[in-house]
Amino acid sequence: MKTDAAYELLRQFASPTAAITTAWQGKRNGMISDSVVRASISPSVPRLSVYIHKWHLSHDLIWQSGLFCIHLLHREQLDLVYNLGFSSGRERDKLAGVPHRLGQLGLPVLEDRVAAFELRVINTMDAGYATHFLGHIEAVHPGADKDILTPAWLRAHMPKAWEPEWLANYRKAQDVIEQHAAIEDRRWTGPVR
Ligand SMILES: Cc1cc2nc3c(=O)[nH]c(=O)nc-3n(C[C@H](O)[C@H](O)[C@H](O)COP(=O)(O)O)c2cc1C
Repeated sequence: MKTDAAYELLRQFASPTAAITTAWQGKRNGMISDSVVRASISPSVPRLSVYIHKWHLSHDLIWQSGLFCIHLLHREQLDLVYNLGFSSGRERDKLAGVPHRLGQLGLPVLEDRVAAFELRVINTMDAGYATHFLGHIEAVHPGADKDILTPAWLRAHMPKAWEPEWLANYRKAQDVIEQHAAIEDRRWTGPVR
């Protein structure tokens, strides 16, 4: 993982460690993100946005379906972070052993959660290596009343054995980002039917 003094300051802007699920034409998947942003301060205009790297399976499924579900997690869910955040659903069905049911939009809603939000994509912004998806919240599913998992807590409590993989993944992602920083201005034109 590459870092410097300025990047360490940028890391302070990370948001809670969230699980993001999606589904399209029978294919389902889940990933981990710490780039979810509250995108409205009005309860009658509930919105969240997130940066998803373009090479992730989740990116394709969200792009095609126009749907995603964001979960706030708690501190006892480190194994879920490893399961969803360290390898791609292109290799295996990551939700196979994770208890969930289908929500209002047909998205996998994880049983174990602090809260889940089902969203419909309403706009996107091209970031070169990633797409910034702006979503409107269509359904809210409250869950366990427990402390929320944050990046700082995760870093401090991640099992030492995971660290080499975590750092290698981080480094690999940084390399791709550096090669694909140019904006393509690719426009999202709605779900693929
Ligand atoms: C703590 C943590 C935070 C992450 N944050 C993001 C993020 O904000 N955006 C992103 O695209 N990937 C992020 N990732 C990486 C993806 O979760 C990971 O690469 C995942 O394997 C992608 O899976 P997929 O190909 O099955 O969609 C994060 C991973 C971890 C462990």
